[in-house]
Amino acid sequence: MMWKERYRIGVDLIDNQHKELFNRLSNFIQIVQNDTHWEDKMDDVKKTLDFMKEYVVYHFNDEERYQEEISYPELEEHREVHANFREAINEYVRTFEEGQFNEKKIKEFAAKLMTWLIVHVCKMDQKIGEYAREKGGKV
Ligand SMILES: [Fe+2]
Repeated sequence: MMWKERYRIGVDLIDNQHKELFNRLSNFIQIVQNDTHWEDKMDDVKKTLDFMKEYVVYHFNDEERYQEEISYPELEEHREVHANFREAINEYVRTFEEGQFNEKKIKEFAAKLMTWLIVHVCKMDQKIGEYAREKGGKV
């Protein structure tokens, strides 16, 4: 389990969705690291791509809606970062559909998900929670 209490931003809806993302990711990373041949991991790669493609959109929408609700001043930058990540996921989906996934690509995809999620949740998303608390609004 990769989720850590310090990732919590203090907004239950968002924290629970982040937990779900980290859960999925940590399962996937275990599969990536196990000893089976990479070609036998392709089902899990496909499942993870499908999940990320769908859930990331759903989660980003909720997170952006929350930022709107609290009139978060950095919403536009945040939207852009989300859009870039969504595009990165779509690019992996395309690469997969073209049959271009191999061992190296699987590892790259897992590493990208992990670093992106940790950095984003620890930095940008934390600031949403801080702003909401400062404002004393609904958290
Ligand atoms: Fe975010």
